[in-house]
Amino acid sequence: MAATRILVFGGSTRTGSLSARLAALAAKEIGLLGAEVTLISLGDYPLPIYNGDLEKDEGIPENARKLARLIQTHQGVFIATPEYNHSLPPLLKNAIDWSSRPKLTAELHHRGRVYAIGSTSDGMIGGARALIDLRKVIATAYGALTIAEQVSVSQAKTAFDDHGSLTQEAPLTLLRTVCARLVEVAARFAEPG
Ligand SMILES: Cc1cc2nc3c(=O)[nH]c(=O)nc-3n(C[C@H](O)[C@H](O)[C@H](O)COP(=O)(O)O)c2cc1C
Repeated sequence: MAATRILVFGGSTRTGSLSARLAALAAKEIGLLGAEVTLISLGDYPLPIYNGDLEKDEGIPENARKLARLIQTHQGVFIATPEYNHSLPPLLKNAIDWSSRPKLTAELHHRGRVYAIGSTSDGMIGGARALIDLRKVIATAYGALTIAEQVSVSQAKTAFDDHGSLTQEAPLTLLRTVCARLVEVAARFAEPG
């Protein structure tokens, strides 16, 4: 049987991004579970801020098509997000907005994908409030399932060691639980790409 394919990305392209670190660690853990992992950076898929005139005049940008195609060719997606004003950052929201436009979703069936989400913040609750909105946005944009388990890494500036792992056992165990559940549910319920 072919390995389950999981796409992983973070919601920040900042140098030294904490959510990019969480994405990289999730990718490693998912790979250890035997899944086939694709780790990308949204920085490799730059998109203009969504504007209806732009879509009407120029159509959907090629990078939005590429992102949507990547989602389609994976059964599961792990998104690591920062928290901006208790919500998800514009980079991530814009990527989801473009890749959820009806012209694309008509061609590609996002609906059969399974999502898992995690957050990072240097604060005490690890950006958990962003996950409330991210879960809602994924459901609305893609009509997709996000698994119940989620992980938030607090005090994230000091949470990662030099090898990119987490120094504290509790968030690492939770991340592993999230990754295992994502692979399990994606393998069982996702429609083939
Ligand atoms: C506009 C803006 C709003 C922010 N709002 C929050 C917030 O509500 N909660 C929080 O914990 N951190 C907040 N932060 C701090 C970011 O979470 C922090 O800069 C984080 O490191 C960014 O993610 P990254 O490391 O993946 O780039 C905010 C940062 C910016 C720039």
